[in-house]
Amino acid sequence: MIRFEVEDLQGEVRTVEVPEGINLNLMEVLKASDYPVLATCGGMALCATCHIEVDNNMEKLGDPTEAELDMLDTLPHATYNSRLSCQVQIGDHLNGMFFKLKEEY
Ligand code: FES
Repeated sequence: MIRFEVEDLQGEVRTVEVPEGINLNLMEVLKASDYPVLATCGGMALCATCHIEVDNNMEKLGDPTEAELDMLDTLPHATYNSRLSCQVQIGDHLNGMFFKLKEEY
């Protein structure tokens, strides 16, 4: 089981568990876990409504693609540890990580 923590927009922290070997991205898991992620573009790195902040071990995620960086650049509240959750593939490397939902409208 892969376990990581997610802080919602109200500051509540919950552990999310995902079976290993699942072929999903983080946005899909957040939606399935009832987080209010709009994901308007369906995971194409085009809407930024799946914006998250990564609180630890950012290097485990690897570098963002140009498309992700371009979209993050358009966000007024993006920080150096912002990512688009639709571009983060679920895997063992997420074990122990901490993500914060970010509101972007
Ligand atoms: S779902 Fe649209 S950018 Fe991630």
